[in-house]
Amino acid sequence: MSAQQGSPSSTTVASRPREQWSGQLGFILSAIGSAVGLGNIWRFPGVAYENGGGAFLIPYLIALVTAGIPILFLDYAIGHRFRGSAPTAFRRLGGKAGKWLESLGWFQVWICIVIAIYYAAVVAWAASYFTFSFDLRWGDDTQGFFITEFLQTSDPGFSSQFVPAVLIPLVLVWVAVLAVLGSGIAKGVQRANVIFLPLLVVAFLILVVRALFLDGAMTGLDALFTPDFSALSNPNVWIAAYSQIFFSLSIAFGIMITYSSYRSRKANVTAPALVVAFANSSFEIIAGIGVFATLGFFAFQQGVGIDELEGLTGVGLSFITFPAIVSQMPGGPLFGALFFGSLVMAGFTSLLSVLQVVSSAFQDKFGITARQASIRVGSALAIVSVLLFSTTTGLIALDTVDQWANNIGIVAAAIAATILVIWVFRKGPELAGHLNAVSTFKVGRVWQLLVGILAPAVLLYMLIQRIIVLVTEGYEGYPLWYLAVAGWGTIAVIVIGAITMTVLRWKHDPDDFTPWPSTTALKELKK
Ligand code: ALA
Repeated sequence: MSAQQGSPSSTTVASRPREQWSGQLGFILSAIGSAVGLGNIWRFPGVAYENGGGAFLIPYLIALVTAGIPILFLDYAIGHRFRGSAPTAFRRLGGKAGKWLESLGWFQVWICIVIAIYYAAVVAWAASYFTFSFDLRWGDDTQGFFITEFLQTSDPGFSSQFVPAVLIPLVLVWVAVLAVLGSGIAKGVQRANVIFLPLLVVAFLILVVRALFLDGAMTGLDALFTPDFSALSNPNVWIAAYSQIFFSLSIAFGIMITYSSYRSRKANVTAPALVVAFANSSFEIIAGIGVFATLGFFAFQQGVGIDELEGLTGVGLSFITFPAIVSQMPGGPLFGALFFGSLVMAGFTSLLSVLQVVSSAFQDKFGITARQASIRVGSALAIVSVLLFSTTTGLIALDTVDQWANNIGIVAAAIAATILVIWVFRKGPELAGHLNAVSTFKVGRVWQLLVGILAPAVLLYMLIQRIIVLVTEGYEGYPLWYLAVAGWGTIAVIVIGAITMTVLRWKHDPDDFTPWPSTTALKELKK
């Protein structure tokens, strides 16, 4: 067996060798495919606008450099060194005394379960809107169409009334994503990314260039980029920047640990991480340019300022404001198809990565194949997703679960991972040594200080602030009982799910693992 493959016992908890990407490019494209998602297109432009415009780029870039990239390195190092899904990798990192650390991996897996079940619904809406673009099906009242006609939204609660127009595409999205997932890493996930990512880049660039030539485009860019430096003294702006980076870069919820666990032994780890981070932020900023150029056109058409427009972020931006603009635009159907087609592709490749975290964890723990994980676990998630998000209360449930999973779940996972790995298990030097042995871009004490001190301190502050706001002010005016069930209940499900999975028996002993060679041996391998 070649050094690339390693022996089965060193690579997997099952009796077969762990799968691998077919090469560095396949991995990089897939990691970018994961990072570039709905967060880039529907979240970033509005968040930037609402948090200081051009000045937002300062906290955004600081968040990227001080937490985003360092934690991306951390995720990659853990996945590559301990070579397993998040629960396997954390359990091995914990060693004999820290087997319970597996629960942190399951905590991340459950965050992915929660994200996947609503993320699939947004991909399904985007797929429907892609088809609606051709005849501008939404008519003149895009808000009424989206909320009342398409989603048939009712008051917050748990409805059992299904909306067929959502249910059918949602089932199709699940069938497609599970088919890819079941085909494994190289034949499934990587192949889908190699096809969709270039298509996404081309479609999105055409859209952005077209947007720049619309009347009023420059006013839109002015609105996005004119810096409001006073925003920098507002802690909420910094919180927004750090949360944006985490969700967008797919860090701290298991994805990058899982993806790097499928890399070959001698793979360069840090340099591709920089490529992924740069590509993700570039896409995000280009999306901001495209979206605000388009909004500039809309404001110009209506003879109002950008600040008078409503629905500039998230669901409202994509499914209410954009369709209204598309209807007014010369060549609107094509523009709409490019926009919603891009959302589908970006969302689909990110959804794949979120579900790979789940699939990989179940494969490791129960010794099942990718196909079995896709059929057994994937179908169960698909059913829950359909039950919760294709009914008349789907929109409000999605909004609430998204808020809690991101701002509480992911942030808590990041704090726990950084503190436990660096302070409790003191793995900073070992992981830095591992990164340096295999990578061209070296890390040193600064990396350990960022991951061990700055990132957890900022994140802890963010988490406390967020909890205070959610407890004292609630969210979006939804009833308190509803927030208790759908919001805090989501966190309870993640915690209980993590504990339950940790106590279940492994099919193959995960500790029967020959650790990666020492850093010296790795240096030898590089030669
Ligand atoms: N990173 C993915 C996104 O931005 C999850 O949507």
